[in-house]
Amino acid sequence: MKGHSVQHDRPVGFILVCTNKSEKQMLSSLVFPQSVIYGHKVFAIKPGDYIFLYNLDTDDLYGTFIAATEGQYDPNLPLFNGRYPYYVKVKITGELKQLKQAKNFLDKIGISRKDYLTYKGISAIISGLNGNLNIKRSDSYIDEDYRPAIISTTLWDYHKQSYGVTPKGNNKYPGVTPAFIIYNLVWRYTKPGDLVLDPMAGSGTTIDVCKEERRRVIAFDIVPTREDIIQADARKLPIEDSIVDLVFIDSPYGDNIRYNEHPDNIGHIPATDEKFYDELEKVMVECYRVMKEGAVMGWLIGDQWAKKVFVPVGFKIYERLIKYFEPIDIICVVRRNQTSNTPFWHSKALQHNFFLRGFKYLFIVCKSYEKKYGNLKIKWNFYER
Ligand SMILES: C[S@@+](CC[C@H](N)C(=O)[O-])C[C@H]1O[C@@H](n2cnc3c(N)ncnc32)[C@H](O)[C@@H]1O
Repeated sequence: MKGHSVQHDRPVGFILVCTNKSEKQMLSSLVFPQSVIYGHKVFAIKPGDYIFLYNLDTDDLYGTFIAATEGQYDPNLPLFNGRYPYYVKVKITGELKQLKQAKNFLDKIGISRKDYLTYKGISAIISGLNGNLNIKRSDSYIDEDYRPAIISTTLWDYHKQSYGVTPKGNNKYPGVTPAFIIYNLVWRYTKPGDLVLDPMAGSGTTIDVCKEERRRVIAFDIVPTREDIIQADARKLPIEDSIVDLVFIDSPYGDNIRYNEHPDNIGHIPATDEKFYDELEKVMVECYRVMKEGAVMGWLIGDQWAKKVFVPVGFKIYERLIKYFEPIDIICVVRRNQTSNTPFWHSKALQHNFFLRGFKYLFIVCKSYEKKYGNLKIKWNFYER
């Protein structure tokens, strides 16, 4: 692998998938199309990266390929009638090698086909393809932190505010949003090129995630912290009706954080005051106006326990949201890196018998569910428990 020119600060190997139906055509065309569930992975590929191809039906692994392009998106890709719109063109290096019972080998050395591979991981797999199966397991084969997973349950947890090589938002900004939340929403509810709005953008986490995932983005805040955030009140956005595909909003949760001194900052109003919800309801109405029919909104919010009073801020916000929107789901996001996550506060919580906040709500709602999902008829198989 000498002379390889890509940077060393990111993983450089990827395992893509095929089936019995697609294998032949992929190997002959050297175009590797993937379905939407692998879109986030295909978008991480840069020219020169190493690619292996895994057949999900036969458990065979093929290699070694080199990406000739970056990961691409084309909903009209002629191969397989556009069913697999994410793709990369590859070149083959040397002779095509095949490893049978690849899952066994990968499990043994500690690699899952979903992982992002380091140079060491690539070398280990190439050794396997060359018939050397006595490779030792090692954590250094994969880069666990390069990109978060797309989470399949309603409990979301990630150990860091940001991910990848470039920062997402500013982790020194009070109340900065964990970037993996926006990443998950963007991949679930938008396509490349769609327009994402953050009306209360803070340090710009939404902008950074959207740029990396190739979505268009527009961001506002009452006090912009950077040039690509536009000054505006989220209750009166200077944009047209019905143009946005996804809204992400991490609003103030009351007056617990001092973002800035602007008089129109909703974060000056305490969560115990009904006015707080009235003002955020105006933000909801404004978001509704600018969203397309069928567009989705993710609203992140936490409850409050302060001065011996518990306020179910989340439930109160949800009550307002469903006056306008249709529910899609409710996610519980584990809170990490809290200022209260100290031995002092943990001991106070036990001593005075209260709870520290352990989670936030992510309410996912839709402007007209039918428009987004139609009359959903999923053919379920019967799975034995
Ligand atoms: C929880 S922070 C957002 C954090 C952001 N998502 C990030 O990752 O940095 C809430 C933001 O709402 C903004 N805000 C408060 N009232 C506002 C209003 N009326 N219009 C627009 N933004 C407002 C605050 O200035 C603050 O930046």
